[in-house]
Amino acid sequence: MIKDHESCIELRHIKKNFQGPYGRTEILKDVSFSLFPKSSVGISGISGAGKSTFLNILAALEKPDAGEVLWNGESIHAWSSKKIAQFRALHIGFVFQSCHLIPELDVLENLLLTYRILKVHVDFGDQKRAQDILERLGMISHSHQLPMTLSGGERQRVAIARAFIHRPRVIVADEPTGNLDETNGEHVMQLLEEMQAEEHTALLLVTHHAPFSQLMQQQYRLHQGVLEAL
Ligand SMILES: Nc1ncnc2c1ncn2[C@@H]1O[C@H](COP(=O)(O)OP(=O)(O)O)[C@@H](O)[C@H]1O
Ligand SMILES: [Mg+2]
Repeated sequence: MIKDHESCIELRHIKKNFQGPYGRTEILKDVSFSLFPKSSVGISGISGAGKSTFLNILAALEKPDAGEVLWNGESIHAWSSKKIAQFRALHIGFVFQSCHLIPELDVLENLLLTYRILKVHVDFGDQKRAQDILERLGMISHSHQLPMTLSGGERQRVAIARAFIHRPRVIVADEPTGNLDETNGEHVMQLLEEMQAEEHTALLLVTHHAPFSQLMQQQYRLHQGVLEAL
């Protein structure tokens, strides 16, 4: 079991280049970063700064050109893709700009899907957890609605419920307010912060909207390939 002073995710000297129309661009130049249990970290940066690339590398959805990614203090370089997928599914919850809910499943079924991926039998405790978390996020009365019948803010609240449902150690949120108006954006941020504190999860938020990043305990800016502590 990992201790609170040990990082749950660490990046060491990460480099990433992409081939653009005018040659290769260094998106991440030499980025090192540690995410600690129960902490909240905001990373801001303009569109195109490399925020999503950073998150994708951290979550092993993309490979760096150089550098190391460590999960629980272990380099994942030698891990099989199956082991990486299992660790990610168990320990990392994702919230994206678009909610990525399954359109054919109702709200409750969308949440239970996480359990169906992780285990063979979904039991009464899992059902209860899904209901509790929907209640907590003010969505219980919408349990049997399809995503298309919800507003953008409501859909994002379901996406937050889904990210937290299996008690992952880390929540990664990539522009979670990007599709929302100001009021709904503020509400979603408030819920993310409250859930992070209540569930003792680490929260890593990337956003081009600096005021939201400033709500986190620690803040960084990604600028010209460099991650600067603020
Ligand atoms: N797979 C890819 N191939 C080529 N260029 C990419 C790829 N992914 C991202 N980029 C480029 O890298 C830069 C950073 O992208 P991204 O990480 O999405 O930035 P942000 O999330 O900060 O807006 C952009 O210029 C983007 O076009
Ligand atoms: Mg992005």
